[in-house]
Amino acid sequence: MVEAPEASLADPGSVDRPAPLVSIRDVVSTEHRRIASGWGEVDRVLGGGLVPGSLTLLGGEPGIGKSTLLLSLCLRAAGAGHRCVYVAAEESASQVRMRADRVSRNGLPAEFLVCESSDLPAALLAASSAALVVIDSIQTVRIPTLRSISGSVLQIRESVFRIQEAAKHPAAMADSGPAFILVGHITKGGEIAGPKLLEHMVDTVLSFEGDRQMGLRFLRAQKNRFGSTQELGVFDMGGEGLIEIPDPGAIFRSSGDRDLPGVAVASLVEGSRAFLVEIQSLTQEVNLAMPRRVATGVDSRRLLSILAVLEKRVGLKLGTCDVFLSAVGGFVAKEPSADLAVAMAVASAARHRPIPKQTVFAGEVTLTGELRSPTSVARRVAEAARLGYREIVLPVSQARPSAAFDADATPNSIDISSCRDIVDCVKKYLV
Ligand code: TYD
Ligand code: MG
Repeated sequence: MVEAPEASLADPGSVDRPAPLVSIRDVVSTEHRRIASGWGEVDRVLGGGLVPGSLTLLGGEPGIGKSTLLLSLCLRAAGAGHRCVYVAAEESASQVRMRADRVSRNGLPAEFLVCESSDLPAALLAASSAALVVIDSIQTVRIPTLRSISGSVLQIRESVFRIQEAAKHPAAMADSGPAFILVGHITKGGEIAGPKLLEHMVDTVLSFEGDRQMGLRFLRAQKNRFGSTQELGVFDMGGEGLIEIPDPGAIFRSSGDRDLPGVAVASLVEGSRAFLVEIQSLTQEVNLAMPRRVATGVDSRRLLSILAVLEKRVGLKLGTCDVFLSAVGGFVAKEPSADLAVAMAVASAARHRPIPKQTVFAGEVTLTGELRSPTSVARRVAEAARLGYREIVLPVSQARPSAAFDADATPNSIDISSCRDIVDCVKKYLV
């Protein structure tokens, strides 16, 4: 401890003791005590596991699988000897049991405790000795002494305060409380329901999204005080719960091997992994004053600017066409380096010319039609080569070796081609 300086400006009557000051060297880190569930996809998104005393909020649409994900997480963590308390405020304990029977791989661990209650203070008291506490959900628990219905702003705010207290100052003798995971409902607009303050009060905000038809589910961190927000966890929802897909490089492709017009493969990087994602486009001549532009998995404003570049610089006549665009498998392409594949998919559809399926694109298309280099080039090249692609198309600047990317070290099964701008690229692949 370092002596705190005398309070000079403050009214001496209002403060009787200064807040403690601790040298950064003496502050105890809880990093080494992370609770790793052993479920690789979840632990990676969290930054290596849950930190004791932290609050994590998990948001997602109804029925997407939030309860299933957390149930499986508890089964694994409890199986590894961490005491877990699952506060079921929406479902009965027997519903939780039925689901546990369905998804459990190794029986039901004794350290998994179910608390069927929506009374938050009582549940917190019961859970004080746990390592992990799941509250399913923050909108359905309530503090009985507050005269307000569950899910109200007042109830949610007070509940999170109480949970924070329980996480930081446990009743048990441990030096920090349990790690808490709160399930959060989302509104029609996709926001987590309740006060915006909620997202500020927690340490980590995760979102669980997916494509219902294909059963793929994605876990992302939108905010993470203990790790990166770049990592993407990929799962498959099947009859026996969620199964992680630790090698998802190749799943975002449609099955066929034929070269078809309107298809281009994008190389995308999320966190520490590269993904190859098929982008499909359909253009259809129509006599509408305002033709439709429909994008799934790609930002629609981004699509509009790419269409404008294709019209203006490449001379494609898209003003009288409906344009549909979709990333396969429900993948949401957040990276600007998806641009080149998006532009090539649309150009390929408009010209009715296929692009060879063994070719991958990576680069941002600027408003002048020039191409900007993506990050992590070596990782993109290596992943494309590993998955059997023959050629990767990059902006010109990347074809030369640099400190970040050594062209001599690339696998020789893949060719690196370079394009100066979008005009050059369309000319090369779609004449
Ligand atoms: P659930 O976890 O209850 O969703 P949330 O808590 O986000 O509302 O998931 C419900 C859906 O998941 C339900 O429609 C059925 C499906 N599901 C499976 O496909 N397989 C399974 O093994 C389980 C447990 C659920
Ligand atoms: Mg649920």
